[in-house]
Amino acid sequence: MRLVLASTNQGKLREVRRLLGSLGFTVVSLAEAGLDPRLELPETGDSFEHNALEKTRALQEMLGGWVLGDDSGLEVDALGGAPGVRSARYAGVELPGRERDLANVRLLLRELEGVEPERRTARFVCVVALVRPDGQSLLARGTCEGRIIEVPRGESGFGYDPVFLPRGRRRTMAELSMDEKNAISHRGRALRKLARRLRERGWVVGDGARPD
Ligand code: IMP
Repeated sequence: MRLVLASTNQGKLREVRRLLGSLGFTVVSLAEAGLDPRLELPETGDSFEHNALEKTRALQEMLGGWVLGDDSGLEVDALGGAPGVRSARYAGVELPGRERDLANVRLLLRELEGVEPERRTARFVCVVALVRPDGQSLLARGTCEGRIIEVPRGESGFGYDPVFLPRGRRRTMAELSMDEKNAISHRGRALRKLARRLRERGWVVGDGARPD
């Protein structure tokens, strides 16, 4: 079964292939589905659930078939949950990928200036949405708890990874290998939960992902 991923992020594509491939899906990108990768999908809500389903459904209505999408972000307790669903565009929407990541991290560190380490708690959140050919949908949420450090560390990953220290770890998300990150990340957890629910409902057969 072909499953189109509503994202241009190669890292997400690899992760989804690894976690959902064994359920019998061939996971393809927007470009492989013949769409312009710059396609803007709607994201108008104020919850991860709303946005994940909205963008996935919009794409599924264009393409038919099985479509998977996600919405994710960072919630910082000392900032009342910000940047939240605005994580990608926290410091503005004009900048390209890498520069935007750097500007977002700079703004976050500025907002948290003077906040002591024990009050810098935060979590990454990811909601994945799957819409099947008949329009029925399934959602799953995954979180990863941690805190925001004062000086960025590490080169891998993307977004806020260099300033996010997962709970119980000494290395930031950007200092972990991709497999280490996937094992604890919000996205990995959401995808494994989705795989479990798909099997429980009999939407797919196959051994699927490892238990969380
Ligand atoms: P979206 O889900 O593609 O809309 O992205 C949400 C934004 O949240 C990203 O642009 C990042 O700034 C942030 N984000 C989501 N997941 C991660 C992650 O795994 N590491 C670092 N930042 C993330």
